[in-house]
Amino acid sequence: MLWLKALHIIFVVTWFAGLFYLPRLFVYHVDVNDEVAYQRFVTMESRLLTITGIGAALALLFGIALLHYWGFKHGWLHAKLVLVALLLGYHHACSRLATAFREGRNRRSARWFRIFNEVPAVLLVGIVILVVVKPF
Ligand code: HEM
Repeated sequence: MLWLKALHIIFVVTWFAGLFYLPRLFVYHVDVNDEVAYQRFVTMESRLLTITGIGAALALLFGIALLHYWGFKHGWLHAKLVLVALLLGYHHACSRLATAFREGRNRRSARWFRIFNEVPAVLLVGIVILVVVKPF
């Protein structure tokens, strides 16, 4: 089980690296007018989305594998999976926002993206407290 947990945490970190950096790219992308620089951001965002997606898939795969040892009847795990579902929703939103930039139809402001960028940090704190402390 410890190998599974180690791999789970490694890919959780990969996943979060992307979820923290993508909205940061969006913040700067909003103010880019030069076409070459604009396309460079589009390329960076799409490559980062691919890596973030691989991290997410493997974090979930090893997380589900860990359920084999823990079963499902734990309040902390139920609460954790609710926050993980919100994280998946956030990831999906990032992918839609990257598409909006690629198609030149982003309408969000840099300020909006700065606030949006805080969401994964809040979810991370909640998930880690639930899984390490197991308060209920
Ligand atoms: C489908 C999604 C997930 C499932 C089913 C899942 C399930 C689990 C299980 C059963 C454990 C073992 C708990 C233990 O041995 O103490 C675990 C450990 C852990 N999970 Fe997840 N997890 C998922 C997603 C995530 C995500 C998104 C994070 C992001 C922060 C995360 C962070 C952790 C951490 C830090 C540990 C190690 C806890 C410890 O050793 O005390 N997991 N996970």
